[in-house]
Amino acid sequence: MINRQPARLPQHVAIIMDGNGRWAQQRGLPRTMGHRKGVEAVRETVRVAGEVGISYLTLFAFSSENWSRPETEVSDLMGLLKAFIRRDLAELHSENVRIRVIGSRENLRGDILPLLIEAEDTTRHNSGLTLVIAFNYGARDEIARAARKLAVKLAAGEISAQQIDAVALDRELDTFGMPDPDLVIRTSGEERLSNFLLWQAAYAELLFVPEYWPDFTRETFIAAIEKYGRRDRRFGGVNPVAAAVS
Ligand code: FPP
Repeated sequence: MINRQPARLPQHVAIIMDGNGRWAQQRGLPRTMGHRKGVEAVRETVRVAGEVGISYLTLFAFSSENWSRPETEVSDLMGLLKAFIRRDLAELHSENVRIRVIGSRENLRGDILPLLIEAEDTTRHNSGLTLVIAFNYGARDEIARAARKLAVKLAAGEISAQQIDAVALDRELDTFGMPDPDLVIRTSGEERLSNFLLWQAAYAELLFVPEYWPDFTRETFIAAIEKYGRRDRRFGGVNPVAAAVS
């Protein structure tokens, strides 16, 4: 039974921005050029998300596993992220964008953490699009950190073992207070989650698009949102229309 629901807008879109390296390689350019072009795609994507009325946009900017890349590439990615915040923060703030950062904040060296905190603090009271930057992020690490926080509360006698459930754990995640992603998009044709929002994406619609991230345009994004609008989400239940006719 085909269920045609009216087009719906995802409240939260999360994106695995993959394929910068391959984009560059295809053109005989150094990988770093792919990342640079990727920042332009970030700007356009943030703009479109705000325009169409998405409430949360999460971008996987740097995973906890990305530290194993060559030092020059890591430092280039750091440089690009820092430049993005330095150059774009004022504009994002004036556009009422709120910035939140998820990921581990331990053992971060240099000025990256102060910059991320500044971005969060400056935009704390903004009520438009929330741009969530996943930095030094890994879902298993996030879940383990949340479990540790619950263990500390348990040991301190603040909570009982019976109070540890999905809601309690959810509250300790970096994403506390945000809705779960409705739509997770991964570019470059790879079809996996790579340790991204494993808990939160339990019922997300997954969309894998062939374009490399630097080629992710306004049109690609809007087509993805439209595709999401045609998906039938059941959250483990049954579609009410299908249930009525069976
Ligand atoms: C994946 O491509 C992309 C990344 C690891 C980093 C994404 C970062 C940016 C687009 C720039 C900074 C971010 C912000 C929010 C300003 P890849 O290098 O894994 O590509 P490949 O799989 O083709 O090698």
